[in-house]
Amino acid sequence: KTFYYIKNLSETELKLKEKLKLRRVVVVAGDVNKDRYTFNELGKKAGEVILDLIKPDTILGITGGTTMACVVNQMKKKKNIKNLLVLPARGALSEELGIEANTIAANLAEKLNSEYKLLHIPDSLDIDELKALKNNKIIRDVLNDIRKINLLVFGLGNAKDMAFRRKADSTIFKRIEEDNLTAEAFGYYFSQDGIMKMQTNSVGISLENYNQIKDIVAVAAGSSKAEAIYAISKFNNNFILVTDEGAANKILSL
Ligand code: BG6
Repeated sequence: KTFYYIKNLSETELKLKEKLKLRRVVVVAGDVNKDRYTFNELGKKAGEVILDLIKPDTILGITGGTTMACVVNQMKKKKNIKNLLVLPARGALSEELGIEANTIAANLAEKLNSEYKLLHIPDSLDIDELKALKNNKIIRDVLNDIRKINLLVFGLGNAKDMAFRRKADSTIFKRIEEDNLTAEAFGYYFSQDGIMKMQTNSVGISLENYNQIKDIVAVAAGSSKAEAIYAISKFNNNFILVTDEGAANKILSL
């Protein structure tokens, strides 16, 4: 029985990898929308994938969210990696402290016994505020390092859910409806065919940066994130996806 189960999972991984044309796909059993156990398994698996990619001179960027918090929680410790720097890939989302990119980056650095830098700015500012902050030496320094990220670990979500969490105003929701935006990742909103249609005034990694990063790991699961995962993979398929059966089966049926 176990054998067939594992066989089915690896078949799902293969089918999904082909459908999304991704570098690698890892699928854990279950659906995080239905049980907590699957969420922890997802975090554990993602943790292993990430640890394998960490080498000397890695500049690791990580985003916020409950998935990233779980990944770091479940990750095993690893020490003595030369010249490892951990950074938040973006500014704060003004959510709970525990799921802000800063907190997650600091916790990850503790697990890896590495250096880290934090980005002490809110994730949505107006253009003038942003300009002023970018002139600050400490902030400029972190933003420069963010451009050098060579291993990015990120979470993604439904456009509507994330707009709600970001306390977006009605014009944003209107655009999401009108343009049929389905996905959000690091402050950018995408249509189902992977075109970036809207961006928040958020600080941190840019899409130009993102397109040049060598190793990228996306961790997103649950049938509710199927469309979002699909859209993000249409934008750029140069990443390793760690997901669950709930999302995988739904994506395969799209
Ligand atoms: C946020 C990221 O912190 O987490 C978003 O900035 C992402 O880009 C979101 O969509 C995902 O959150 P969660 O809680 O579903 O893992």
